[in-house]
Amino acid sequence: MNPVEIVSHPLAQRHLTALRDAETPTERFAWHLNRLAELLFLEASRDLPVEEVPVKTPLAETEGVRLAKPVVLCPILRAGLGLLDAVRPMVPEARVAHIGLARDETTAEAHSYYAKFPDGMAEAEVFLLDPMLATGGSAVEGVRQLQAAGATSIRFVCVVSCPQGIEAFQKAHPGVPITTAAVDAGLNLQSYIVPGLGDAGDRYFGT
Ligand code: PRP
Ligand code: URA
Repeated sequence: MNPVEIVSHPLAQRHLTALRDAETPTERFAWHLNRLAELLFLEASRDLPVEEVPVKTPLAETEGVRLAKPVVLCPILRAGLGLLDAVRPMVPEARVAHIGLARDETTAEAHSYYAKFPDGMAEAEVFLLDPMLATGGSAVEGVRQLQAAGATSIRFVCVVSCPQGIEAFQKAHPGVPITTAAVDAGLNLQSYIVPGLGDAGDRYFGT
């Protein structure tokens, strides 16, 4: 079964608390989401393969490293953009894929409305980015689309998850690791995570 890594670092949990707070205004919500995304990505990318390269400092030659494989970042539109905005400057050479999914407000089923992938998906280390893992429908479909586009090495990064979403995701994609800041208690009748942080996309974009 794929591992679920919970990033319990105090700085991460402090950002998460600000995101949960219903009084946090859009501009602060966006700032905290961006900062938390950096910390989550740092952990999610910890095992990226590297290769040694020689480097000349002003004083001597020594060994350094570079990423051994290309990186593809893939936000699930729209809220995943809140993670991409922060992560992209950390790996500026990364290509960016996009998957557009919207949950039906009644059934909570994820419907696909957009997808675009760069070349070379099969060789890349791919990070699927979405702040919320609720029923799991969006993340499950996101990974399915990435695999259909050729991706073989995929990691999923989210801010808040819950047992239902994790179970659905692990069942569908047992090989894909999850990095998250929290596993919350569960879902309400509208399939929102409780306690959660509300509608991530609305809060990030102020809609
Ligand atoms: C939210 C969120 C995830 C999805 C999670 O997106 O960003 O993509 O719900 O729910 P699930 O695990 O039950 O699929 P939403 O469909 O609200 O679209 P948005 O990002 O455009 O607001
Ligand atoms: N999407 C969100 O933005 N929040 C939730 O709690 C569930 C799905």
